[in-house]
Amino acid sequence: MQIEYYPIGVVHSPFITVEGTPIQLSRARQAKGTVEVWDEYIEGLSDLEGFSHLVLLCHLHASRDYNLKVLPFLDTELRGVFATRAPMRPNPIGLSIVKLCGIKAHTLHIEDIDFLEGTPVLDIKPYVGEFDNRAGARFGWLEGARKQTEVADARFKAV
Ligand SMILES: C[S@@+](CC[C@H](N)C(=O)[O-])C[C@H]1O[C@@H](n2cnc3c(N)ncnc32)[C@H](O)[C@@H]1O
Repeated sequence: MQIEYYPIGVVHSPFITVEGTPIQLSRARQAKGTVEVWDEYIEGLSDLEGFSHLVLLCHLHASRDYNLKVLPFLDTELRGVFATRAPMRPNPIGLSIVKLCGIKAHTLHIEDIDFLEGTPVLDIKPYVGEFDNRAGARFGWLEGARKQTEVADARFKAV
């Protein structure tokens, strides 16, 4: 089965290259940017202003290839790609929970970005603590993660 999605907008980010982009939004140090939503979807933004955080689902457009075992930014051992948030994956979909700072017409002002400039946005959802916080969650190999990396290097850069 082949699935075709069309972007509903685009991320504008201060990060132009993979190297130097925060590895996760928890390390994004309040980096600011915007989501520009295409005109035909603007009506769908109504009632969003009351939410403090958004879930952004994006196509990681600069990813080209993938390996099923990857060396994560935070570890020194190879891990299964589905046990990581590595950007090069069979379907390069990125999921980030960003702070919503304001909405002006078709522009969402956001904070805590770990996406590159020009990243196509597939969907926007409100972050809802009751739905999305899971009590008693475990974090697998990340609980013993050995590195404190803040920003990406070139390991997942497309060649
Ligand atoms: C590890 S991913 C995490 C993205 C998202 N928070 C997630 O968990 O799916 C963040 C890294 O992906 C890379 N990245 C960000 N935007 C990208 C894009 N549009 N295409 C390819 N790689 C991207 C950058 O190297 C960044 O440091």
